[in-house]
Amino acid sequence: MCGIVGYIGKKEAYPIIIGGLKRLEYRGYDSAGVALFSDAIRVFKHKGKVADLEKFIAEKNTSGALGIGHTRWATHGAPNDVNAHPHGTEDGGIVLVHNGIIENYATLKLFLEKKGHIFSSETDTEVLAHLIEEVEKGGESDFSSVVRMALQKVSGAYAIAVLSAKNPDLLVVARKGSPLVVGVGEKEFYVASDAYPLAEYTKRVIYLEDGEVASLFRDGRMEIKTITHESHTPQIQVLDIELEALEKSGFDHFMQKEIHEQPRAICDSLRGRLYSVEDAVIQLGGIQNIEEKLLAAKQFTFLACGTSWHAGLIGKKIFEEILRIPTRTEYASEFRYGNPIIGKDEVFFGVSQSGETADTLAAIQCAKEGGGTIVGICNVVGSSIARAAHAGLYTHAGPEIGVASTKAFTTQITTLLLLALYIGQKKKTIDDVRIKKILRALSDVSEKTETVLTMDSYIKDIARKYKDAKNALYLGRGYGFPVALEGALKLKEISYIHAEGYPAAEMKHGPIALVDEYMPVIIIAPEGPSYEKIMSNAEEIRARKGKIIAVVSEGDRRLERIADDYMEIPKIDDMLSPLLSVVPLQLFAYHSAVLRGCDVDRPRNLAKSVTVE
Ligand code: G6P
Repeated sequence: MCGIVGYIGKKEAYPIIIGGLKRLEYRGYDSAGVALFSDAIRVFKHKGKVADLEKFIAEKNTSGALGIGHTRWATHGAPNDVNAHPHGTEDGGIVLVHNGIIENYATLKLFLEKKGHIFSSETDTEVLAHLIEEVEKGGESDFSSVVRMALQKVSGAYAIAVLSAKNPDLLVVARKGSPLVVGVGEKEFYVASDAYPLAEYTKRVIYLEDGEVASLFRDGRMEIKTITHESHTPQIQVLDIELEALEKSGFDHFMQKEIHEQPRAICDSLRGRLYSVEDAVIQLGGIQNIEEKLLAAKQFTFLACGTSWHAGLIGKKIFEEILRIPTRTEYASEFRYGNPIIGKDEVFFGVSQSGETADTLAAIQCAKEGGGTIVGICNVVGSSIARAAHAGLYTHAGPEIGVASTKAFTTQITTLLLLALYIGQKKKTIDDVRIKKILRALSDVSEKTETVLTMDSYIKDIARKYKDAKNALYLGRGYGFPVALEGALKLKEISYIHAEGYPAAEMKHGPIALVDEYMPVIIIAPEGPSYEKIMSNAEEIRARKGKIIAVVSEGDRRLERIADDYMEIPKIDDMLSPLLSVVPLQLFAYHSAVLRGCDVDRPRNLAKSVTVE
């Protein structure tokens, strides 16, 4: 969702800010803007893409070695030029960008209007600029103190970057609930909502903690205080992101690149963890401090949203099969407001690619307050969920830029499987023979994924046949059911074809009414315990003239007889089958969307990182 960038130093800020906004485009947005400070603060903002903003600014004065920028995903007020950030006071003396939601903005606005402030936008953000101005009128001369005092009156979530015309050598940034990273250069600072815009300038970063306000001075000084004015010592960390990971590297889209990166990503997920297949040795450093809790847990809960929730559904099946301990998978948004029962001997897994999804973050915080143990299963290093958890495992997928999640999903499953095996081995709920068998299969997954990827152009041909469908149904059983959900989500997200995932047997209780000769039905039917049952479901579809696209194990000719099209995946243990069966569905969605002329990496209305609830 909204993205923030900022710069203070000696270089021209504009190219850095625009370049940074382009790196943040993947988060999802509908307008963009910048504020640049040389002799005065100049604000430029525009509805639409960053490229539209650039065109709009083309002939204007963009000088200044201090600036802020923003991509806005509309919450309060329509996506238009006026509501786009930056926002400022009437005289333009205080200008800021904001990611998050100011929950008490209506009360603050009323209070400020009574004081004579005139607002020009419908946003909650504009209130912040006026509030800071109002506090400043109280006589405090130190601008950073003014910002901190103003923030004491604010409830809600925010990451902000603030400019003050009276302070040409200062950039003030703050965070509570929304992410913000400060990049430390040589007498210069970079600021962004995530580390990607910083990677080309510096590897030294500070992940601001909730409630911290950083004052970044042009001479290279930095001061971090809490909003209640307590000093904090900054913790500088070293970024581990290669620039190449942020480029398309010859692919047409990030999503395409990320689908093809899965063999590598799965290897990276296993690296250092799958220590020895032959001796069945798994090492998971990230959970050592809570190992006792994991072994004593009476219940496990996965909390997640979107694709990560689908990985959680697979995690539940894996955990229950290997550990025989009750496990639930909850939508984070439903869990947190559902008056949840939280056991002290319960372990909660916050599964999140970005580690910033607002509902998942709030749900794990709710579980933590209730006494639960929290484990983060995140991709983005240093993200809020990773830091809020008691322990965690990174999935090591590398930066995922495409809005439709792909490699994050397969690496989440890989990580959860390793974790279940690790706990199962210690608790002796699974014997070493079975562990070795699964580990051997896991170590072969990468190569088998490569095999699936060789079907790319074949799947493109299948997508061409069905690209004009209005609806699609995805059916699976057992481990295939979450894959059906994920396949349907991929298709609807990026191609805008209405698609539903359903348990194959449940199909008879409703969706079968929709089946006719125009309905493609994707049946996930690799070899496994559910195979015979799903064959019968396929026959039921066939009898109603539905078009069947079957995902089957290689060499399976039984479904071929009734399928209109089929996609073969290498044979694999049932528990690992989602790692392979999801790949043709990702390719099918990708090619369908491209053939329909959709903007695959920036699908309408969607955001990569959903930082508001
Ligand atoms: C958004 C993204 C999805 C993602 C979901 C959860 O909806 O578009 O791709 O699965 O958020 O995100 P997370 O970062 O928590 O995995």
